[in-house]
Amino acid sequence: MLRRITYRLYGHVRRLAAVVRRRRSGHVPFDKAARPDVYWDLRYRLGGTSGKGSIGATRQWKWAQIDGCVDVLNRSVLDIGCGDLSFWRGRACEDYTGLDFSDTVVKRNRRARRSWTFIQGDASQSQDLSGEIVLCLDMLFHVMSDDVYEAILRNLARWTQDWLFIYTWRRSPLGDQTSDGKYQSYRPLLDSASLLQPLMHVKTHAYSDYGALYVFRR
Ligand SMILES: C[S@@+](CC[C@H](N)C(=O)[O-])C[C@H]1O[C@@H](n2cnc3c(N)ncnc32)[C@H](O)[C@@H]1O
Repeated sequence: MLRRITYRLYGHVRRLAAVVRRRRSGHVPFDKAARPDVYWDLRYRLGGTSGKGSIGATRQWKWAQIDGCVDVLNRSVLDIGCGDLSFWRGRACEDYTGLDFSDTVVKRNRRARRSWTFIQGDASQSQDLSGEIVLCLDMLFHVMSDDVYEAILRNLARWTQDWLFIYTWRRSPLGDQTSDGKYQSYRPLLDSASLLQPLMHVKTHAYSDYGALYVFRR
């Protein structure tokens, strides 16, 4: 009896230790390319974050560009691929809707920002959404399928009433390659500008050798 209990306890401890190890290493045991929705949900469940682009100097720089165009406080904001809201730390918005396909992060966000609206859904699918300001930050370079990428761009154009801000790669960080086949894929955004019509490209703010904030307006 005692042996059986000890054995079971040992199994639990081993499983727990494996989870802790995975969390520490940021490792998510899933093929992102096959099921990005499952990948992101598991990543958040294992304690992962939206990434470095949503914090520190990068976040500060992105906000400076957006604030230079429009005041988000009193306008309706639609945040596509909103993630864990690190990007919104210290910021307010009176009419905010965030869409993300991770159920885990959407539930957490609802608890963190009770007056905001969060929708669990896929940005490439038809959704009854609109916002004066639409943000799609650090999401497009994680989309592996061309069809999904194009559907998302069409939706962004449809949902934008006034301003659209997209942060994505302006050059491939993968050298000569455009994709690592599982986690990120580089596509020159302005080559697909026709999918964003009737929005007009206003400006590209380069951040680094690789990233840029693209500004569009209806
Ligand atoms: C790197 S995070 C960026 C989060 C946030 N935009 C930011 O800048 O802090 C990418 C987010 O996009 C979400 N995402 C990726 N593809 C999506 C899709 N097709 N529909 C909805 N959400 C998606 C992921 O779940 C993840 O939370």
